[in-house]
Amino acid sequence: MRSPLAKTDLWPCVALLLAWVGSVAASCSIPSTYSWTSTGPLAQPKSGWASIKDLTNVVYNGQHLVYASVADTSGAYHSMNFGLFSDWSEMQWASQNQMIDSAVAPTLFYFAPKSTWVLAYQWGSTTFSYRTSSDPSNPNGWSSENPLFTGSVFNGTALDQTVIGDSENMYLFFADDNGKIYRASMPIGNFPGSFGSAYEVVLSDSPNNLFEAVQVYTVSGQNKYLMIVEAMGVNGRYFRSFTADSLGGSWTVQAGTENQPFAGKANSGATWTNDISHGDLVRSNPDQTMSIDPCNLQFLYQGRDPNINPTYNLLPYRPGVLTLNH
Ligand SMILES: *[C@@H]1O[C@H](CO)[C@@H](O)[C@H](O)[C@H]1NC(C)=O
Repeated sequence: MRSPLAKTDLWPCVALLLAWVGSVAASCSIPSTYSWTSTGPLAQPKSGWASIKDLTNVVYNGQHLVYASVADTSGAYHSMNFGLFSDWSEMQWASQNQMIDSAVAPTLFYFAPKSTWVLAYQWGSTTFSYRTSSDPSNPNGWSSENPLFTGSVFNGTALDQTVIGDSENMYLFFADDNGKIYRASMPIGNFPGSFGSAYEVVLSDSPNNLFEAVQVYTVSGQNKYLMIVEAMGVNGRYFRSFTADSLGGSWTVQAGTENQPFAGKANSGATWTNDISHGDLVRSNPDQTMSIDPCNLQFLYQGRDPNINPTYNLLPYRPGVLTLNH
């Protein structure tokens, strides 16, 4: 039977519906209780490598661009990127490209004010370093090393930097494997450049509760910032979350227990790993705002088979992705 409405008459309705869906989507806020669905391990390290870890990622030209640390089978650290792929299910076939100049525990983003890509990392010639590039998909197209941060902490090891900006300042956050999260800042006009050596402590707790792998994000469409920090739990590594109204402000715990974490064994949905460890939320914008869309939240993490227990550097970490349940 012919519809009483001609097809063309429906277009205004379709447009209105899409506009409504769009406005609903833009208004998602981050949940107070998180629940995820997980993929299995998405890629196996190539021959000679024990693990792929410390993942950072952006969407670049509509494809996933992932950088990571690598521990080789003798336990030495390097870094790599994956060749571009469109869907997480294709990561298993993406090329795995070792970098000539290592960038361990990398943080990848596009610095929009100067139209340049930035890769920040640890274990260069200063505490934290960075390189720049116009083609982030080329693992060996990065500039020479520049100092990002030259300070040191008193009781622990400065590690796992992340960088984020608002309209006025750039901020560096990092951890110490010993219960503290630190922050340094500079005017955005001075970036890319060094944060110098000064810092302040923004969070302090037991080493297990604030261990490492801090990441900080702008929650898109809200005046809110989300910090996640990897913790050591009874049942494995998990992430705790904190929120703040400004990047220079104070941080309030949000999903902070192992039983109701940001992401961990209790809520990941993953069956192949107990650990939900060092990774990066899939950002809605690759730029320095480190923006995430809570309506479409995914978390690229490292997990591992809990039944394989060599020394720490040889633990068989592989990438996986969590998708937030709504
Ligand atoms: C160093 O860190 C350890 C572990 O958190 C702590 O027990 C100890 O009191 C700290 N020492 C100093 C001097 O702060």
